[in-house]
Amino acid sequence: MLDARSRSTMQPRIERISFAPIERGIDPPWFAECCKIRRIVFVEEQSVPAELEWDGLDEIAEHFIALTHPGPDERARGTARMRVIGSTAQAERVAVLESARHLGLGRLLMEAIESRARNRALSRICLNAQVAAVPFYERLGYRSEGDEFIEAGIKHRAMSKDLD
Ligand SMILES: CC(C)(COP(=O)(O)OP(=O)(O)OC[C@H]1O[C@@H](n2cnc3c(N)ncnc32)[C@H](O)[C@@H]1OP(=O)(O)O)[C@@H](O)C(=O)NCCC(=O)NCCS
Repeated sequence: MLDARSRSTMQPRIERISFAPIERGIDPPWFAECCKIRRIVFVEEQSVPAELEWDGLDEIAEHFIALTHPGPDERARGTARMRVIGSTAQAERVAVLESARHLGLGRLLMEAIESRARNRALSRICLNAQVAAVPFYERLGYRSEGDEFIEAGIKHRAMSKDLD
């Protein structure tokens, strides 16, 4: 979690972006910021092939963005998306800029997805975690399922969490 000093200077907040207004061209520049963060974190830092990152599913997802420093200097530091599959929410593309990690933004993004999933009466969150990120999700109550597998050249584990 954020320590008191970081929280007071960053004042993080999460916004949810649904795709319909983006298609109509009335989205604030936030979706472009989500894409920028994903390109920096996944394509550049982790060498995920661009054609896998841009998988054509953004249009049917809800997107979340972590913003800090409200006011004229507001900055986008993290993003995630959620897709609904049956009664389950699939959490994907969870990324925080390297300079902003370990400040609690990843947790806030996952809490925002969980809250949205509850509001949509979904009973479970599923995700494919990079093996290096498994401890991050475990701290948030997710449990691993099955064997490791390779996706985009990176080892993953399936994880899930039942919602109350
Ligand atoms: C994984 C990631 C999203 C975590 O975001 P973050 O903002 O640094 O995470 P938080 O600061 O909210 O951390 C929440 C908790 O998880 C822990 N944590 C975060 N990253 C961790 C890691 N890699 N290993 C172990 N614990 C970790 C934190 O210490 C914190 O624990 P605490 O609540 O007990 O203090 C971020 O490291 C990232 O973007 N990584 C690159 C992209 C990636 O791998 N995404 C996941 C794809 S499945």
